[in-house]
Amino acid sequence: MSNRPRPKGTGKLVQADGARHARIWGVGGYRPERVVPNSEIVERIDSSDEWIRERSGIVSRRIAAPGETVVDMSEAAARDALRAAGIDASQLGAIMIATVTHPYQTPAAAPILANRLGSTCAAFDISAACAGYCYGISLANDMVRGGSAEYVLVVGVEKLSDFTDYDDRGSAFIFGDGAGAAVVGPSDSPGIGPTIWGSDGEKWQTISQREPWTQFHTWDGPAPAGAAIDQAPAAVSGIDRDWPAIGMAGQSVFRWAVWGMAPVAQQAIEKAGITIDDLDAFIPHQANMRIIDAMIKQLKLPADIPVARDIAETANTSAASVPLATERMLRQHEIPSGGLALQIGFGAGLVYAAQVIVIP
Ligand code: UT7
Repeated sequence: MSNRPRPKGTGKLVQADGARHARIWGVGGYRPERVVPNSEIVERIDSSDEWIRERSGIVSRRIAAPGETVVDMSEAAARDALRAAGIDASQLGAIMIATVTHPYQTPAAAPILANRLGSTCAAFDISAACAGYCYGISLANDMVRGGSAEYVLVVGVEKLSDFTDYDDRGSAFIFGDGAGAAVVGPSDSPGIGPTIWGSDGEKWQTISQREPWTQFHTWDGPAPAGAAIDQAPAAVSGIDRDWPAIGMAGQSVFRWAVWGMAPVAQQAIEKAGITIDDLDAFIPHQANMRIIDAMIKQLKLPADIPVARDIAETANTSAASVPLATERMLRQHEIPSGGLALQIGFGAGLVYAAQVIVIP
């Protein structure tokens, strides 16, 4: 080390240079093989197929296989998105997984996914429930433009079946499993509009994991050292689910979503510098068909604009719902590449995020 006196306060940093704009390069999805119709759910909750269809729009949901993990589903969706984007995993600068159902507090699912994809890029999870994917798109946009990554993989994934109490009338029929993913990268023109996001933490109790991890003492013994984190955990004896369940005060969340989320969507349109007539698609969180219809009405969405209604066959997959709905609309050629889509996520926290994106 040099003993030469060094003048203080003269060091200068170099700022990372990002891209001028960012866009979504490709979207992918993964739906577990097993289709579970309402008829398989109704008996335990004294309900009916008609009631569930009428009140939520859900006809069936996909449920992951017992050994299928959040990381497995993420990998399938990520590979699909990378293929759609024409990007190699080695080009990724960061991987974000939005999920609330990776059953380990630590490590996050994202580094395990990175390893599976053969990448050593920055990798972390975000916990923003049903808004997680739209939160992730906002962060990825800023990262690409800020220069911290050239390409970012954003995954929304849930294995909600592990966290569902199938005896709870208010939630047993709502949730499904799946994964959606998007690759965000540089662009010559704006491809992701300003995000309108926020939280309403005063209402945190309306959707919540019912027991904290610290009060869930049903393990038969300590987990084996070096347990394989990317494999499904063994079932806990005595109960028919392995982890705490998620509970929901359905009506309160319903009201909040119906009255609170249309103005957020409207702001995202205004901040993007467009009008509602400029939209080529509306891709809201797939929470309830009646919430989707109420938002359409409040936004005065023109009747010819395609609306995501993936909930009928996929149910509510939380963080996976917006990318899965996007993937379906793209695959079925319902929305034009290069067109504008308004997407909005909202859920536990309560938290929300909306932005207008250019369809890849
Ligand atoms: O993804 C995060 C955000 N989540 C959401 O946005 C979900 C928002 N909430 C909802 O989607 C709806 O509240 C549900 C679909 C969960 C429930 O629909 P609802 O119209 O709010 O039902 P409710 O709780 O007001 O119940 C209406 C009636 C009641 O009977 P009475 O008192 O009118 O005689 C309930 O006892 O339906 C009864 N009921 C059921 N009947 C058959 C409640 N649950 C069921 C059931 N099957 N599963």
